[in-house]
Amino acid sequence: MGVRVKTGRTVLAATIGLGVALGVQAGEYPDLGPLPQLKIDAAKAELGKRLFFDRRISGDAGISCADCHKPENGYAHPDALSPGYPGNGHFRNSASLVNTAHKNVWNWDGRIGTNLNDMTREMLTEDYIMNMDMRIMQERAKQDPVYVKMFKDAGYGEPSNGSVRKAIPEYLKTLTSKNAPFDSGKLSPAAKKGQALFEGKAGCIQCHNGPMLTDLKAYNTGVPENFDVFLDPMNHQAFLAFVMFQGVPDYMNMKRDPGYYNVTLEQQDMGSFVTPSLRELKYTAPYMHNGMIGTLAEVVEFYNGGGGKDSRKSDKLKALNLSAEEKQDLVAFLESLSGDPLTGPGYVWSEEYPSEYPVIENWRQVRN
Ligand code: HEC
Ligand code: HEC
Repeated sequence: MGVRVKTGRTVLAATIGLGVALGVQAGEYPDLGPLPQLKIDAAKAELGKRLFFDRRISGDAGISCADCHKPENGYAHPDALSPGYPGNGHFRNSASLVNTAHKNVWNWDGRIGTNLNDMTREMLTEDYIMNMDMRIMQERAKQDPVYVKMFKDAGYGEPSNGSVRKAIPEYLKTLTSKNAPFDSGKLSPAAKKGQALFEGKAGCIQCHNGPMLTDLKAYNTGVPENFDVFLDPMNHQAFLAFVMFQGVPDYMNMKRDPGYYNVTLEQQDMGSFVTPSLRELKYTAPYMHNGMIGTLAEVVEFYNGGGGKDSRKSDKLKALNLSAEEKQDLVAFLESLSGDPLTGPGYVWSEEYPSEYPVIENWRQVRN
């Protein structure tokens, strides 16, 4: 079972799915290692930054990307379940955006496998996220002289919805791990032992591999449901809108997150989620698609017990019998994958946005 969208990891696809037993062979999986550098256009990224923190690009100008992807929380959100568009909740944990530009499969269920332009459009237009009409967004941007200048300086001409969906991904490229001890080779002795466990006895590398520590494939690990999705009507209405749109049958009676099933509609994928990156976890608690695990020590305990309970759970997960010290070493390794917080002015837009606009005389004569 693998995510059907193109992942560009054909070599890996050949090794995965063989039901690899614990006791992993060296060299069997893509090496953990530093991330490649991304080429960034500074003017486009700066425009993307202003857009990312701007509430005016949501329907009622009440919520920005940064309200759910908070800089101080590794561009995720500290609530187990993300907030939603005003008047809505959400049914999943907000995903971290640090290093997201290094991926080619997005969302906990892997439903987008094209590019961050499409991902940005989904976030802007979904009614329980930002509920924005792209034509209105474009007109609002044109009313703000700062945007008119920034779009022009970035080489986009006048503000358009297409260039918003290019500029925001350019900004997302700036959100990458900085100075993580793992990348600079400054691992503590405990973290070093943890890495050996990660790649060996604990078998984490079977799914968490490569520079991002993910194979971007979907597995069922048996994480328990977060019933706040179904008990809180604000979350539930967002869930219903989502599964209805995905074409999930019998969704009114559904009391679990279908996960990758909503991509394939095949029963075997029910409750599977795409392996997440393990970078910057220091900032992004709580963990898992529904925030059901609060700390890294608890995550390690979860895996030590062989994962959760589910009839479709991956057979790569087995009880691990780790000692107390080994568990601490694994946590130390996970912590070494986090770098500096990306909360400085290079990443965060802190200038005021205009709250009023000059009146347009003769607006009927305005030409676009
Ligand atoms: C109302 C809260 C909310 C807002 C506002 C929001 N997001 Fe998200 N975002 C989420 C949640 C929740 C997820 C995970 C959804 C899922 O897995 O089904 C997510 C996922 C993502 C992902 C996928 C990350 C990954 O690595 O899989 C990207 C990229 C993203 N958002 C970018 C943005 C951008 C850009 C904006 C603004 C245009 C934005 N988001 C606005 C809540 C929000
Ligand atoms: C069978 C594949 C597989 C194996 C083996 C595996 N993981 Fe995972 N891991 C996943 C998947 C899938 C998720 C997401 C599950 C969810 O959200 O429901 C996950 C989630 C996590 C998370 C939460 C990340 C976040 O952003 O919320 C951590 C931490 C983690 N794994 C660490 C480990 C460690 C440590 C090991 C080894 C002891 C390990 N994993 C072994 C597939 C795996």
